[in-house]
Amino acid sequence: MDITLQPVTAENWRNLIQLKVREDQNHFVASNLLSIAESQFGFDDEGHWNSYPFGIYLGDMPVGFLMYALNPAHSRIQAFIMRLMVDEKFQGKGYGRQAMNLLLERFQGDRDIQKVAISYSPENVSAQKLYAELGFIETGEMAGDENLAILNLR
Ligand SMILES: CC(C)(COP(=O)(O)OP(=O)(O)OC[C@H]1O[C@@H](n2cnc3c(N)ncnc32)[C@H](O)[C@@H]1OP(=O)(O)O)[C@@H](O)C(=O)NCCC(=O)NCCS
Repeated sequence: MDITLQPVTAENWRNLIQLKVREDQNHFVASNLLSIAESQFGFDDEGHWNSYPFGIYLGDMPVGFLMYALNPAHSRIQAFIMRLMVDEKFQGKGYGRQAMNLLLERFQGDRDIQKVAISYSPENVSAQKLYAELGFIETGEMAGDENLAILNLR
């Protein structure tokens, strides 16, 4: 069955807020409820970033969540992957990697996006390994208390 990304809507948000990571992973990612609330407003940094929240679906079953923000006017980074999580019951099956690949394909198709950023806790070895394999390179900078890594799309 295929993994797809489906926008958060009035119909699916209640299902998506039920998805949970393992208790020992809670400090790596905000709850989906908080992320969906944040996504309504975006944020400002060298212009406005709009946020786009999605469910990660296996067929019609929600298995995870991701959210990115875009600001084509930003001089350095035009896309920021704010959140990625796969529910504890579905981890380690390749869904997180497939969701990231779908997202990066989407960004590839948008000529406004040259660089994509992501950040993660220095202790988050799984996330770090996944993003490095996808081509993200750590800059040595921190975004808050997280490592910042950037992917050059073009
Ligand atoms: C990080 C996360 C999204 C990965 O999703 P997933 O579906 O479990 O990952 P996949 O099965 O697609 O595996 C992708 C890669 O991640 C890495 N990975 C996943 N689980 C791992 C583990 N337990 N140990 C080390 N690496 C791991 C590996 O590089 C793996 O590739 P491989 O199987 O070829 O070795 C998921 O584990 C998660 O939700 N973690 C908690 C929340 C979180 O940390 N989010 C990221 C915040 S920046």
